[in-house]
Amino acid sequence: MKTTSEIRSDFLDFFAARGHTIVPSAPLVPGNDPTLLFTNSGMVQFKDVFLGAEKRSYVRAADVQRCLRAGGKHNDLDQVGYTARHHTFFEMLGNWSFGDYFKHDAIAWAWELLTQVWKLPPERLLVTVYQTDDEAYDIWHRQIGLPPERIVRIGDNKGAPYASDNFWQMADTGPCGPCTEIFYDHGAHIAGGPPGSPDEDGDRYIEIWNLVFMQFDRQPDGSLQPLPAPCVDTGMGLERLAAVLQGVHGNYDIDLFRRLIAAAAGLTATADHGNKSLRVIADHIRACSFLIVDGVLPSNEGRGYVLRRIIRRALRHGWMLGVRGDFFWKMVAPLVEVMGEAYPELAAKRELVERALKAEEERFGETLEHGMRIFDEVAARDSVQASASIPGTDAFRLYDTYGFPVDLTADIARERGLSVDMAGFDAAMAQQRETARAAGKFGGGATLPAELVAQLQPTQFLGYDTLAADGLAVVALLRDGRPVESIDAGDEAIVLLERTPFYAESGGQVGDAGELGGGDGGASLRFIVDDTLKLAGQFHGHAGRLVAGTLARGDRLVASVDGARRAAIVLNHSATHLLHAALRQVLGTHVAQKGSLVAPDRLRFDFSHFQPMTADELAEVERRVNAQIRGNHEAEVRHMGMQEALDFGAMALFGEKYGERVRVLRMGDTSTELCGGTHVSRTGDIGLFKVVSEGGVSAGVRRIEAVSGQGALDHVAAEEQRLAEAARLLGGNTADVGDKLRALLERQKRLERELDALKARAASGATADLASGARDIGGVKVLAARLENFDSKALREAVDRLKQQLGDAVVLLAGASDGKAALVAGVSGAAAGRVKAGELLAHVAAQIGGKGGGRPDLAQGGGDDGPALQAALAGVGDWVAQRLG
Ligand code: ALA
Repeated sequence: MKTTSEIRSDFLDFFAARGHTIVPSAPLVPGNDPTLLFTNSGMVQFKDVFLGAEKRSYVRAADVQRCLRAGGKHNDLDQVGYTARHHTFFEMLGNWSFGDYFKHDAIAWAWELLTQVWKLPPERLLVTVYQTDDEAYDIWHRQIGLPPERIVRIGDNKGAPYASDNFWQMADTGPCGPCTEIFYDHGAHIAGGPPGSPDEDGDRYIEIWNLVFMQFDRQPDGSLQPLPAPCVDTGMGLERLAAVLQGVHGNYDIDLFRRLIAAAAGLTATADHGNKSLRVIADHIRACSFLIVDGVLPSNEGRGYVLRRIIRRALRHGWMLGVRGDFFWKMVAPLVEVMGEAYPELAAKRELVERALKAEEERFGETLEHGMRIFDEVAARDSVQASASIPGTDAFRLYDTYGFPVDLTADIARERGLSVDMAGFDAAMAQQRETARAAGKFGGGATLPAELVAQLQPTQFLGYDTLAADGLAVVALLRDGRPVESIDAGDEAIVLLERTPFYAESGGQVGDAGELGGGDGGASLRFIVDDTLKLAGQFHGHAGRLVAGTLARGDRLVASVDGARRAAIVLNHSATHLLHAALRQVLGTHVAQKGSLVAPDRLRFDFSHFQPMTADELAEVERRVNAQIRGNHEAEVRHMGMQEALDFGAMALFGEKYGERVRVLRMGDTSTELCGGTHVSRTGDIGLFKVVSEGGVSAGVRRIEAVSGQGALDHVAAEEQRLAEAARLLGGNTADVGDKLRALLERQKRLERELDALKARAASGATADLASGARDIGGVKVLAARLENFDSKALREAVDRLKQQLGDAVVLLAGASDGKAALVAGVSGAAAGRVKAGELLAHVAAQIGGKGGGRPDLAQGGGDDGPALQAALAGVGDWVAQRLG
């Protein structure tokens, strides 16, 4: 029987011998291809080569590609568990020609591999060709010799020109072309007809290999442009092929799946290995693990949400099998066993995968049970029974409150013969978005009375260009949240100006501090601004205290921002952008901003990542940020439309709302972000960037605290001072602190060793005394004794010494401490073979409420210290005498 591992290597060897370069599997997340959610076939990594946009050093290639068909054009998620052959994750064996060989060689080699190498009986194989592809038909018929009844022509059977089972396309646009497919006949005992027949969906004839003759690039308008050169793209599902070669019918019966299913059965205590939930779990652990390996983490959007849906579906199946704790992450170990060799990246990231899955299990575990109860209640309603449909509002409640993705609810419903009102679900979802939007409009912490919001114009912000301005009209004054006409010296208040250079807290950047003064209140008027708040999303509220004069609505003021404070904030804000970009470069693009605080003295940045950063990663991030600083790049600000900004490559934060026109900040060659904050004019202004700490905030979120500019220099100076202090204590200088400390530790170790030796010497003195108390029984020295404060290690050493001293001996020592007794028994010389240490020990231990055992010459155990121990020791001599007698 061929194992899946052997099949992988047979395939690659076969094509390597025919001039193909063996290429590693690409990740499941396609590099920079927005048209595609996941790598859904082997050809994805070669798309640009087909299109002529990329050149490789080879024109023939072969590989084993991991693929995912969940979400997007090819989506099999709903089928998994219900059929013998659907998977979310599968492996595709493929060989390629880039403008080199074409139909003739592709067909001939496929036939040779199947019938000569793997020795499949030719009469079990039949093929399809695209209706008009006479060339492929002729190759099969004339050169391979297949009779016409086993070559089926398939036309445009999917309702549009070039929409056919025999016309393959990767996505709605991109490379495509006619194909010929090879089918295996599993035998007349299985229901189903050949391709093209009314029963083709049965399970008897299974497609095993698809040879695509790539000739066109499908355009967004549906038209077909010829490719620069015709190419070959083939795909053979490893799991189906393994089923054929291993003589089983279902994919889940192949070696690899049998092992995963056995593991799942063990974890869920399920006796019936044919249970469909086990298949779902075995399938889903592959998809989930490889998604995480390839940088996807569970989230509520895009690829992360597909992953979350697959995980939650697996967890629900575990729940159906009776599991009430976490289990799914434990499937990673058996998966690494069966696939880690073929995919070293899986073995390497095992811990990350386990942690990510476990975190998601813990999160969903809290609501799964409750949600299932809600589902049962809904399903039991008369109205639901009558309509056989779960209302959209209930599906939405399950989604919103209990984290049930709607397809999970649909999956549960399907098992009960129910459907879900999807239109109703979408409507409930849309309504919630609307409510959230309306609520968000006037949010922003401190509140502003609605009538003011209606009356006032949004504050005009001058602070990108200046830190001081005059003639600024006071448009409103708030005391305790209520509008007032004027305030007096000593009053705390919030002042709203028509225009202001004060930045109001937003996007993580703290609000400005400074002073308002002058104006009609005379030169003596002074309002100290402690903080500037963003009110109702568009008004800058200067919060602080009037220390001199009187201030009235309508007055015109002079405003001056605390420049040193703002300058420090600016450095930290720009450094935050560079940090974000560097983290994505060093850790991967799964890093997304989860929170940010930009203060004058430090910056704090929270981001998604599943494990602590290593010292090397931190050093590399710091190095990259400082390289950007030294590059002294100009910070370029542009205003543009949202779409234009995204096309420009700007990083937008998920969940943030942006206006139509956005402000894009670009620094150096690494960082482009949407940002309304204030920044340096050149990166060199930042001076120096130092990470102060890295730690975890919550599952999957890490936090970096860092300093820049003068703050970074202060930090370094403080560290140097600590080092100098250590050097002083060690009696050296900062350069030899390491050497001095090492010497000190070595000295300490040496002293400990000496102390141990002294203790041992004292102990051997004690045992020498003991030896003299041994009893002679027929030439064998028998000794049983209790020693205070001997642990098992000391006992073992004492027994060894006594055995040497006594020669032919049986020794049992009990080391007493804290009411417990450790036991060690030893037998040596002539006594060996006649008395077994293990038996003696078991005999003694049994009398003191303990247990133990071991080899015939040495055994250990323990029990309680007390009168029973004394009696047991006293009985050792008689016990040994009996054995020797
Ligand atoms: N790209 C072709 C398929 O996925 C080979 O079937």
